[in-house]
Amino acid sequence: MTDTESPRLLVLLSGRGTNLIAIQDAIEAGRLRARIAGVISDRADATGLERAHERKLDTATIDRRRFVDREAFERSLEIAVDGFQPRCLVLAGFMRVLGDDFVNRHAGRLINIHPSLLPRHRGLHTHRRVLEAGETTHGASVHFVTPALDAGPVIARVEMDVRADDTADSLADRLLPLEHRLYPAALALLLRHRVELRNETIYLDDQPLGGPLLLDRDLDADGRLLDTGHGG
Ligand code: GRF
Repeated sequence: MTDTESPRLLVLLSGRGTNLIAIQDAIEAGRLRARIAGVISDRADATGLERAHERKLDTATIDRRRFVDREAFERSLEIAVDGFQPRCLVLAGFMRVLGDDFVNRHAGRLINIHPSLLPRHRGLHTHRRVLEAGETTHGASVHFVTPALDAGPVIARVEMDVRADDTADSLADRLLPLEHRLYPAALALLLRHRVELRNETIYLDDQPLGGPLLLDRDLDADGRLLDTGHGG
């Protein structure tokens, strides 16, 4: 069956692509009304590209190493993006910092998942940094991308406890399945136009969102709001 009506997603990745597959699984299970119009990788050897091919998704590689600078890379990226005509650009393990022009051009429809409870631990090595800081709670955040790295407003988060015997690897392993539930849920809200970015503020059903929604408290894995005063 070809689905030409559902909102078109474009997934950008550099690595494994397990979040890509989680989103595609949610679509195929009927939990997320969308279609993945394309997958773009900045690396030809990304495992995520193989996973995309296995799921018969269209892909493109814009290999960063073939361009002299970020501007040239992003010009090519922009042409590829346009070709897929996406409603929403979904960063899923895309390991490049995008320039202000690109980010501003796609403001409000460019989102990312980050493995920490933002604003804590922007950048890399989040699991290790949680342990070093002695924190007892960890999690992941889905946020709108704005020019400052990992600093855009957060739509939704998922939390988990840190255990006494956790390592950076065990935290990453335990967090990943939670990311896989969080990302489709946050996307569903966005695609249903319940969540919107206006002047770097998130609005939920036309009201400013006081703080990030929490998975399993404020919204379920299908992106349905639970009755906790954050909407319904
Ligand atoms: C995830 O941990 C995500 O939070 C971060 O990059 C990782 C991507 O994993 N931004 P995968 O490629 O989706 O498996």
